[in-house]
Amino acid sequence: MPRTRSHAMSSRHHSGNGRRGDSKSAQPLTGQHARQMQRFGTVVRMPIGLEPKVCEQSCRQLNVLLADTITLRDMYKKHHWQVSGHTFYQLHLLFDKHAEEQNELVDQIAERIQLLGGIAVAMAADVAEMTRIERPPIGREEVPVQISRLLAAHELICKSCREVAAQADEAGDDGTNDLAISDVLRTNELQAWFVAEHVVDTPLVKAK
Ligand SMILES: [Fe+2]
Repeated sequence: MPRTRSHAMSSRHHSGNGRRGDSKSAQPLTGQHARQMQRFGTVVRMPIGLEPKVCEQSCRQLNVLLADTITLRDMYKKHHWQVSGHTFYQLHLLFDKHAEEQNELVDQIAERIQLLGGIAVAMAADVAEMTRIERPPIGREEVPVQISRLLAAHELICKSCREVAAQADEAGDDGTNDLAISDVLRTNELQAWFVAEHVVDTPLVKAK
């Protein structure tokens, strides 16, 4: 008679000193692998009163917005570390503040995708394939160039928010509409203002 799983388990538990709770039962089970539970791009049905096709559309759009937001957050960190020149200190602090605020948005967008039944893009390599923000060089750039990159990213995200919101509104996904406008768009518009004022060419000491 073949050994069943329960036979194998019981013989393992009662081997050695013959008591349950020996050191073997506390052994972490590392190196485990299995098939994925859900493929990227699919949605599972969640009990929130939205049709799966609506959730799928919102998840697809939110994932692109998420990839762009992760990229902008990381670009703010890059510039926070690599900034130079006579505005170093204020920009070093401002860029970090904006990175933290973008990080909050990353979490909000990702968790909305999950609650809609989708899968949030997460890892850097996958984000790099999905984002529409131009990849900056690995090296250091001057402040006006850093700021231009940030402003281009903000503008792209602002336009995207309005598109996502409009389509979510049409589909009846009010939560996605609200997130795109109240959180993502408002934050990006405000950050764009704070950053853009740094590239207004005003005299530093003597009025023109
Ligand atoms: Fe820092």
